[in-house]
Amino acid sequence: LVPDFQRFQFEQRRALHDYLTVTAQRQREIGAERRNEGLLELTRERLLRLLRAMDVERALISDVLEPLTRGLDQRVLEAVPGAPYPTRELRVLEMYETVFRDWGWGDPENDRALDVLERLVAAARCALGQPLELGKLAVFGAGACRLAADVHRTLGPSVTVALDINPLPLLIGERLLRGGVVDLYEYPVGARGIANMAVLQQLHCRLPPRQGLVLALADTREPPFAADSLDSVLTPWYIDVVEAELVDTAATIHRVLRSGGMWFNQGPLRFTGPAARLYCIEEVHELVQKSGFELVATLSEDIPYFDSPHAGSRRIETVYGFAARKSGPAPVVPERAKPEPAWLRDVSEPIPFSPELHDLEVRFVFSAGAVSLIDGARSVKDLAEALGGELQLDPAQLIEPIRSFLGSVLPGRRASR
Ligand SMILES: C[S@@+](CC[C@H](N)C(=O)[O-])C[C@H]1O[C@@H](n2cnc3c(N)ncnc32)[C@H](O)[C@@H]1O
Repeated sequence: LVPDFQRFQFEQRRALHDYLTVTAQRQREIGAERRNEGLLELTRERLLRLLRAMDVERALISDVLEPLTRGLDQRVLEAVPGAPYPTRELRVLEMYETVFRDWGWGDPENDRALDVLERLVAAARCALGQPLELGKLAVFGAGACRLAADVHRTLGPSVTVALDINPLPLLIGERLLRGGVVDLYEYPVGARGIANMAVLQQLHCRLPPRQGLVLALADTREPPFAADSLDSVLTPWYIDVVEAELVDTAATIHRVLRSGGMWFNQGPLRFTGPAARLYCIEEVHELVQKSGFELVATLSEDIPYFDSPHAGSRRIETVYGFAARKSGPAPVVPERAKPEPAWLRDVSEPIPFSPELHDLEVRFVFSAGAVSLIDGARSVKDLAEALGGELQLDPAQLIEPIRSFLGSVLPGRRASR
């Protein structure tokens, strides 16, 4: 449930392609490191564990994300990988670690998150002096969905729709909530010893979910709900992460909530972006109130975050909670300039000509020329000679550009001894 599914699907496929390319490359590098002389037997063993863990991870991730790539022509995907070269920032693995906290070792943290919400709901009931039902609840940015499942089981909403735009944690959560078991390796930060470096976790959901829990792969900036259709919205660890202005997030929530509906928020405030938008809690409270909400209850407390028993590092976060009631008219949100040009949004729009295009073309001709000349025998110098002839440029002056370009895109820049 995303605004432009075809584009979303292609981006997902590209992210998966990058992930598979980069991890295969990484496995080859680790395999080569393992063959180096002078390594401890223990080191060899550790690298072997890592390689095996990556095999399991690659197979599982390909399988979980397969539905997203259905219907795409394999030949097109092979011919058009998407990115000019894969980036090492693997989007597929964003928030990968949440699945282990949610469905592996994380009961104390998950219970604590639920407890924060229970206390917020209780405080809101008390302040309003009337019964408060969660009714139809939506959880924005539900991640691997453990909190959504716990809330649905314990706080009695009639329906809970857990939404997230990141497929991997959501689809793993979905498998587990359907009764599946997922075997996956966790790589704890600063592992406590070799045995904890890649830990096989059998993820599962111990308590079967109540009827009425729905998971949706959706963009919560344009949530798939009619106006005034929800009784409550929960935003856990979300408002500072979503790529949207806080006032826009508030306006979206205001739109989908019925009059008197409740917005529950919990999470830290780690906004990114321009300085004026790095809000502190006082500003958040004021913006929420200016957005047609009455602030009914607030809390803040320090709680552990990603406290994996296998890791040598953990965080304590100050978590801010609030319960806000939709009480006023819709906020007036300024019209924002579209972040993308029209031709990107509408593929039948003409692409404007710009002087930068020439630079781009030169860059691609040069890059493609250099790459196509690599045959396993030619050196940087040979490439410079050949390209210099083709482009009628002095080969000596092409040596550094070629070395710098290939050094930044080809693997194995650092010699592995
Ligand atoms: C810090 S994580 C928190 C996840 C989960 N609530 C938890 O506590 O583990 C923020 C979540 O918001 C999701 N998110 C960010 N932008 C989103 C969007 N536009 N639509 C849906 N989900 C979004 C991310 O994919 C991510 O799962």
